[in-house]
Amino acid sequence: MKRQGIRASGNALGLAPALWESPFLRACRGEPTPVTPVWLMRQAGRYMEHYRGVRAGGSFLDLCKSPARCAEVAVFARTFLDVDAAILFSDILVVLEALGLPLEFTEGGGPHLPQPIRAAAQVEALGNPAQAAADLDYVYQALRLTVAGLPPHIPCIGFCGAPFTLAAYAIEGGGTRQFAQSKAFMYRESAAWHRLMEVLVSALALYVNHQIAAGASCIQIFDSWVGELTREDFREFVAPHLSRLIAHIGAGVPVILFGTGTGHLLDELIACGPDVLGIDSTTDLAVAGALAARHGVAVQGNLDPCLLLAPRPRLLAAADRVLATAHSASGHVFNLGHGVLKQTDPEQARALVERVHATSTASGRA
Ligand code: CP3
Repeated sequence: MKRQGIRASGNALGLAPALWESPFLRACRGEPTPVTPVWLMRQAGRYMEHYRGVRAGGSFLDLCKSPARCAEVAVFARTFLDVDAAILFSDILVVLEALGLPLEFTEGGGPHLPQPIRAAAQVEALGNPAQAAADLDYVYQALRLTVAGLPPHIPCIGFCGAPFTLAAYAIEGGGTRQFAQSKAFMYRESAAWHRLMEVLVSALALYVNHQIAAGASCIQIFDSWVGELTREDFREFVAPHLSRLIAHIGAGVPVILFGTGTGHLLDELIACGPDVLGIDSTTDLAVAGALAARHGVAVQGNLDPCLLLAPRPRLLAAADRVLATAHSASGHVFNLGHGVLKQTDPEQARALVERVHATSTASGRA
């Protein structure tokens, strides 16, 4: 089963014209826009004083489970930066917790899963996907409150982790450089690997469709670490599952598929059926944009987040270059190549957004 792309399915959700015709959703569909839309991955986060204030005194996971505070940080970041889309405030790993894997975030050290999956029996012991999706009701509440807090012409992006990236966290138990445990499990326990991917996809499909019902008008799938795979392994161990997830996402909602280091996988990722391909700074946007355009797919990216740490003139010149390299794309959403770093000056992020709007309006090519 292949999903009918956003360009063919039309406004199946019946979104209000102001939203359906917003620059962000138009760019996702490959339609011309008066200005290049921009948002920033991790636009709400520790680099913002407002976020630190809202989080103060509690853990990150507590914040994720407080819908009103999630909406507050998501809406504040959207307004402060004047970006063209908001993104749900949550984390990709809450789905693993809902499936029964204990999850904690160490202060400054990132995620930690103290009971990682290392044996086939642990895959069988995972929770029921429908129950897991139902237990994530706090996410849908956060989404509803976020959408209610946004101006009517601003879309809210819902999201989930991709099956590969989530499986890698579940097996490694946290961050990793080599993905040795994950790949060993994939090669040695292949049946259990595929079963794990199936359970994840079942839960994720329900999860993102609940997000759409709660008001998300776009879904981004974060496959942050998929670039670690060879083409052969991607095809055998990941592509069928990722395709199935995308195929199950409701019609009329653009799907953005993001990964890092994916220069060698672009055609494979496109074949999984996304409407927009999110690419990082190690991949040439001109090449990716032209390739994606041949398949009727838009692109998102790809300014190196470290450029936000550069002197202002270098940052702005680099932003102009990203806009220029997107000339061959059929639809461009400006973004970073990965998330905003915590040492970023928020004023730099704001200046970047202003520049993208100014340059793309002036060039008139958008
Ligand atoms: O504004 C937004 O973009 C929305 C919120 C969002 C967060 N995480 C908040 C967050 C989104 C979309 C994510 C996705 C996510 N989470 C990914 C995919 C994107 C990527 O960066 O590749 C991944 C791999 C995770 C897992 C995760 N969560 C990690 C590795 C970390 C630690 C990294 C770090 O910067 O310390 C987190 C924690 C996390 N997720 C924070 C935030 C704001 C920091 C929490 C805090 O300490 O307050």
